Amino acid sequence: MTKNVIAMMNHVAAHVANNMSLIENLKQYAKENHVPIIMDAGLSFLLENIKKYQVKTILEIGTAIGYSAINMALAGANVVTIERDEKMYQEALKNIKEAGLEDKIKVLFIDAKEAFLLVENMEFDMLFIDAAKASYQKFFDLYIPLLKKNGIVICDNLAFHGLAEKNANLDNCSRNLRAMIRKLNNFKDYLKSNENFSTNFFEIGDGMSVSIKKS
Ligand SMILES: C[S@@+](CC[C@H](N)C(=O)[O-])C[C@H]1O[C@@H](n2cnc3c(N)ncnc32)[C@H](O)[C@@H]1O
Repeated sequence: MTKNVIAMMNHVAAHVANNMSLIENLKQYAKENHVPIIMDAGLSFLLENIKKYQVKTILEIGTAIGYSAINMALAGANVVTIERDEKMYQEALKNIKEAGLEDKIKVLFIDAKEAFLLVENMEFDMLFIDAAKASYQKFFDLYIPLLKKNGIVICDNLAFHGLAEKNANLDNCSRNLRAMIRKLNNFKDYLKSNENFSTNFFEIGDGMSVSIKKS
């Protein structure tokens, strides 16, 4: 093996090791600061689907600190991700820079309900919805026109910690929480009845769905 090849392999190994420790640090930061990020099982499922459907371009709704976006970019995808909270946005920019992924991830600081004009000329292989649960249907309806043929939509937190499952006891939940859960359940029914998509639900992580655009 030539010196150049060995140097390149060392460089790649150092890059992978740096990113692994960055990912662990992000998880730790999220835990300490109560930032809701995707669960390990959910993330593995997301990455499996990126591979399975050969996803190259992703629109993510809900960046938080950039944890899922960084993982999806490390899996090879180009990601546009939308975040409305300034502290989260700044934290995400810092983490993406540290990961050396500024050319793979673009973060938009805006409410996703208002962001369509910023992305309307783009096309995506995948839409990943992971923001305010009460607005899932709005996000879905707004952004599916940007999905390519056979594109997929993945949604997280559809079980909402068990509260959005059948027969969940909501007696101790506030009125606002009950309203949010009702909207999330309506959205699941909407997905089931949407004839333009074929949707499967998975008891993985906090409940996930994969919807494949039919044409
Ligand atoms: C569950 S966290 C996202 C976690 C992230 N996808 C991950 O797994 O690393 C949800 C994020 O969505 C943001 N969010 C909620 N509603 C939003 C909206 N309407 N537009 C943009 N961001 C929103 C919140 O500020 C929060 O940071």
